[in-house]
Amino acid sequence: MKILKIATISLLVASSLLANQVPQISQDMRTMLNAMESIQRAGFYNDTEGMKSGVVKLKSGLQSLITTDAKSYLPDDQAYANKFAQKRAKMIEMYANDLVESLKNNKLDDALVDYTQILKECTSCHTRIRNW
Ligand code: HEC
Repeated sequence: MKILKIATISLLVASSLLANQVPQISQDMRTMLNAMESIQRAGFYNDTEGMKSGVVKLKSGLQSLITTDAKSYLPDDQAYANKFAQKRAKMIEMYANDLVESLKNNKLDDALVDYTQILKECTSCHTRIRNW
């Protein structure tokens, strides 16, 4: 019984250590990648509901972009790093909302354009990150 307790506790400690090793921003980024994959996949199957739930997941990953100090990962000569990051988050949210609007109006073409715009927002930041 005692051994079981110790095993349980060490498992709990180990898993919390593992969870702490991945910073919140990385976790959110993985959520967003996952969401983008879901949206794309659902799009190929004409599954508009799947695309919409992908958008909800995508938006749930945006918080770190607003709360993390962008000066910590963007180059020193990046003017207004935090403004830049927050603008990217805003644009992603805007295109995500637009994507849902396009789906409501049965415009899959427009939804695809929004999806592409979101991808561009992701890469516009990633190409600037130091020590990537
Ligand atoms: C304003 C900047 C910014 C934007 C916009 C941005 N990212 Fe990131 N992304 C980061 C930073 C910073 C990291 C962490 C880099 C590192 O490892 O130090 C990161 C890392 C990632 C990773 C790797 C995470 C890991 O550790 O496994 C993925 C995947 C990712 N981003 C996906 C996305 C997707 C998808 C979008 C768009 C929907 C996006 N990112 C938009 C800044 C950004």
